[in-house]
Amino acid sequence: MNINIELTEHSSHEELSLKDQGLIALAINQLQTSHSPYSNFRVGAAVSLENGDSWGGSNQENSSYPVGICAERIALSVASTQSPGEIVDTIVVVYSDPRGVHNAPLAPCGMCRQAIREQTYRQEKGIRMILTTQHGETLVLKNADDLLPLSFTLEKSK
Ligand code: THU
Repeated sequence: MNINIELTEHSSHEELSLKDQGLIALAINQLQTSHSPYSNFRVGAAVSLENGDSWGGSNQENSSYPVGICAERIALSVASTQSPGEIVDTIVVVYSDPRGVHNAPLAPCGMCRQAIREQTYRQEKGIRMILTTQHGETLVLKNADDLLPLSFTLEKSK
């Protein structure tokens, strides 16, 4: 068995559609709302929904470290509560790293991959994922679930 991830690489945001660029701008704006005094690592996320809504989120840390929540799960939760029942089409993830250690797109943590997987079960449709940097380097994944193959679920597989 082979497990494949279908993605495209881009070196600038201009290579993407205007709609994607708008969603990336929303995710970048969300960096300002990050509460990350412990890591100083800001993460912004934005989701677009099939009904045209889009929502953003950012990482929210806590002095009790495990209480902190990643940007992706905030954005998904905002979408789920503010536009209940709507289908998530695309999720963007961007970050700002004051240490300058990273300059390539970063992929979501395992917990967020599981949360995204749950959303695709709920909506019975895959979610595109745009992993990007503020400078433009970008990976576009056709289906974010590809990042969590053989995943756990309580649902009966179809
Ligand atoms: N973080 C996210 O927001 N998303 C991820 O997918 C990985 C990590 C946050 C958690 C923490 O606030 C900071 O990045 C550093 O780990």
